[in-house]
Amino acid sequence: MPTAIQDLEKGVVLAELGGYGDGPYCAKHGANAALAMMGTYIVDPGDDVPYPKDFVFKPDRSVYLSYLKEHVAAGRAGGARIGVSVATVQLSHTLEFLAAAEEAGADYVSLCAHSTMEMFVKVRLGEELCRRDNAELLEKWARAIMGAVTVPVIFKIGLTAPVDTLNAVDILAAAGVPVVHINLRQTHRGSEGLRFLEQLAGRCRCLIAGGGVRNVDDARRLLDAGANAVAVGSAAMKDPGLCGSIQQALRHRETE
Ligand SMILES: Cc1cc2nc3c(=O)[nH]c(=O)nc-3n(C[C@H](O)[C@H](O)[C@H](O)COP(=O)(O)O)c2cc1C
Repeated sequence: MPTAIQDLEKGVVLAELGGYGDGPYCAKHGANAALAMMGTYIVDPGDDVPYPKDFVFKPDRSVYLSYLKEHVAAGRAGGARIGVSVATVQLSHTLEFLAAAEEAGADYVSLCAHSTMEMFVKVRLGEELCRRDNAELLEKWARAIMGAVTVPVIFKIGLTAPVDTLNAVDILAAAGVPVVHINLRQTHRGSEGLRFLEQLAGRCRCLIAGGGVRNVDDARRLLDAGANAVAVGSAAMKDPGLCGSIQQALRHRETE
């Protein structure tokens, strides 16, 4: 029986879209993908987060557990595994939310560690969490999240200074985080993102890479550069069948 992580191999992941990616969105736009990510949800957002009401919660699982149950169940209609993503400014809120997501039936949980929003970066979270200066904090968050859930954990990161990102991935792998998702922003031939992916390959158990994937050729380029799975965000917003058709083509090549 394949594990959840083996299921991602040469698969497509519907990338998280805070404010859009709820359960029905995942069912439709992530249909026949390997994994559809819900969220990112923000817990205890303070005053000004320009997100729809459904994507920001006050702390305490009684506030969001029934929402998560309803939307994880709705997301399953597309046939993909379902992941739930979160961003918070307090570790305790992250742990409580992700444990609630697991209780709600999520197959994967994810921490969004690439946001550039002021509320996160000013407290060394968001993309700041992956800077070398914050290595201790990253390790603390990674180990705590790994201890709070039993489903596979994903850390979603971005490409900051390459040496910082490589260091962050090594810390996550050492802490036992099984899946890293990197938003490389651009992945066309000759791009910095594609070159960097080649350096990252093999440094963690499962690497999901995305940024600018619009068709099967784009996706194959990422797999050939060393990604285990490919994330699709913006292009899947416009074409709900895209994730499923790319995945079918990627896996078909395997059986040729
Ligand atoms: C409208 C919009 C909302 C997004 N919201 C989130 C989010 O809440 N959390 C997150 O981790 N990434 C978010 N992203 C980033 C995407 O998940 C993805 O990593 C990025 O867009 C690159 O992939 P793409 O080029 O296929 O869109 C968002 C992207 C867009 C366009």
